[in-house]
Amino acid sequence: MKGIVLAGGKGTRLYPITSAVSKQLLPVYDKPLVYYPITTLMLASIREILIISTPEALPAFRALLGDGGQWGVKFDYAEQAKPNGLAEGFIIGADFIDGKPCALALGDNIFHGAGLTGQLQDAGNLQSGAAVFAYRVADPHRFGIVELDAKGKPVSIEEKPASPKSNLAVTGLYFYDKDIVDIARKTERSERGELEITSVNAEYLKRGELRVIQLARGTAWLDAGTFDSLLQASVYVQTLEQRQRFRIACPEEVAWRRGFINDAQLKKLAAAIPNDYGAYLTSLLEEAR
Ligand code: DAU
Repeated sequence: MKGIVLAGGKGTRLYPITSAVSKQLLPVYDKPLVYYPITTLMLASIREILIISTPEALPAFRALLGDGGQWGVKFDYAEQAKPNGLAEGFIIGADFIDGKPCALALGDNIFHGAGLTGQLQDAGNLQSGAAVFAYRVADPHRFGIVELDAKGKPVSIEEKPASPKSNLAVTGLYFYDKDIVDIARKTERSERGELEITSVNAEYLKRGELRVIQLARGTAWLDAGTFDSLLQASVYVQTLEQRQRFRIACPEEVAWRRGFINDAQLKKLAAAIPNDYGAYLTSLLEEAR
């Protein structure tokens, strides 16, 4: 399974903060926002990741993330000239995907909670059809909304419906089989002029191949697209990290625990970060001894 992190868009809701800096590079407490979706993909055992962003922002992503070797993964980069819709990520990434199954993580979505890693592992093993993650929300008109039957099978999916048929939002984390590029290419633009990921999901639903994985009520799904949600995400991460001392979405830790990198590599990463973050990485090695 390959993975795409879509980190484009203008971030206008965060102007002036994002006038010269990409939203997905802003801090969420102790790390850049983009670390969170990258770590989500790594937890699904995805090691080949395409980072898509605007032509202006891409150099900064390259400077931050490099080729991925430091975390035992491989990053490729591609430009999205305009925010033409989430499904365009698969068209831009067609060569990278190369006929394999592929996941998509939105660059501003944060997932955290007990049991999540197992669900991500399952989704990362997907070979046919599609899997999306659904989360109960209080304001369903703002999201893609999926309606389930009594057995948990999806019966309808709609983008930002005026009259939502359920409270279950489709989150910004999607897993697809090898048909994804074909389906994305055949998608027609919506009324707002975008290639909607909801249209892609509707096609899988029509084929009877859409699986909906429900996130448990104790899970956090946050996005960081507004002043308030950015701050709230930071406070959430700060609160849990200070209470437990585990860091959330720390790619160095996940790479090491997953065996993508060894002790010596983690030690080197720790030494390059001369603050509490680096000290945390060192403490992982000490605790393991
Ligand atoms: O967050 C989950 C929701 O994401 C889903 O429930 C919706 O079904 C899905 O359409 C999407 O809704 P949004 O309207 O919230 O997506 P937005 O246009 O804000 O884009 C999400 C992120 O992706 C944002 O950080 C910008 C980036 N983006 C967006 C577009 C349209 C791109 O990088 N390229 C794009 O072309």
